Amino acid sequence: MRILALETSCDDLSWSVVEDGKHVLALTISSQVDIHAKTGGVVPEVAAREHAVTAIPALDTIAKDVDLKTIDAVAVTVGPGLLGSLLVGINTASTLATLLHKPLIPVHHIEGHIYANWLERDAAISFPSLILTVSGGHNDMYLMKDHFSFVHVGTTLDDAAGEAFDKVARMLDLGYPGGPAIEKLAYAYPDLTSDLVFPIAWGNKDEGTFSFSGLKSEVRRTVEKYKTQGELTELQKAEIAHAFLRSVTEVLSKKAFRMAKKHNAKSVCVTGGVSASTPLVDAMKELSSKENIAFFHPVKKLYSTDNAAMIGAAAYYKVQKFPDYLSSFTPLLTPHLSYTLGGEADNA
Ligand code: KG4
Ligand code: ZN
Repeated sequence: MRILALETSCDDLSWSVVEDGKHVLALTISSQVDIHAKTGGVVPEVAAREHAVTAIPALDTIAKDVDLKTIDAVAVTVGPGLLGSLLVGINTASTLATLLHKPLIPVHHIEGHIYANWLERDAAISFPSLILTVSGGHNDMYLMKDHFSFVHVGTTLDDAAGEAFDKVARMLDLGYPGGPAIEKLAYAYPDLTSDLVFPIAWGNKDEGTFSFSGLKSEVRRTVEKYKTQGELTELQKAEIAHAFLRSVTEVLSKKAFRMAKKHNAKSVCVTGGVSASTPLVDAMKELSSKENIAFFHPVKKLYSTDNAAMIGAAAYYKVQKFPDYLSSFTPLLTPHLSYTLGGEADNA
């Protein structure tokens, strides 16, 4: 089954054609990073206007790789995300599905991130699987008992990890998005020795809750302390980047495996923008061999951050479980800002 998918929930517009939830036949990602770097973060109105300009030219690129007449269904992210950005995507996908006389499948953004782990993967992911979703807007854990069967077992009490990366990068004047910038700086000084250690917010170690506000305040205090002696040097920034990375990596990786053991999960998956973090993936690989629990992360960094291939994969597994979606020929979707993960859309 070939699904044409569109993702526009935030600042990237992405089209993809995915076959059988696995094979990525075509993928374009139109990034707005250069535009939002100027403001140090995403301006929603600017993001939506840019999507409106990019959507059709980007689809033309996809149509050069795959004949759109061979598509079986259209899928689109319906939420959560920025309202204007979602509306551009939903209206574009609805129009296209109507013109092509194909069903339209609504997908939750996090369902998409979860299924990024199924893209281009040959090995089976064993259930139950503990899924850690870490992005700019989400920091959650789910026990995935089967396809499209999710139990929410963890969340953040304040910021998402990616949000913390972005805010700390802004404090260090490293630009947007923060995650790759912090990683790049830390890797530029791999042998840096420093006594700087930031606290790790364990909370109750056996619970699935995260908190990054204390860590963020600690980074701010350190930046202010260093600034009393003048502007931050590159080495001071690298020192902070290393200490921040250590703290975030440790709590994310250890809590995920602790929850996996608590729920007798057979595997652990990490996904979302922060799963592009090499230190995080390395720490989780180490825990995987120590705890003897299989570990998966998206096979390409491209599949960790926002992309439409993951939406196409999620849509495929969704229609296997809820075949009724395939008989809906009058696509009329609205943004589902609080749409339940794994559920059936009420207007499908
Ligand atoms: O999943 P995503 O593309 O968009 C959301 O759904 O939010 O995630 C974007 C987030 C940003 O906060 C970005 O700083 C973070 O993912 N990110 C990273 C890395 N690459 C992207 N965080 C840590 N290390 C990275 N290499
Ligand atoms: Zn995302």
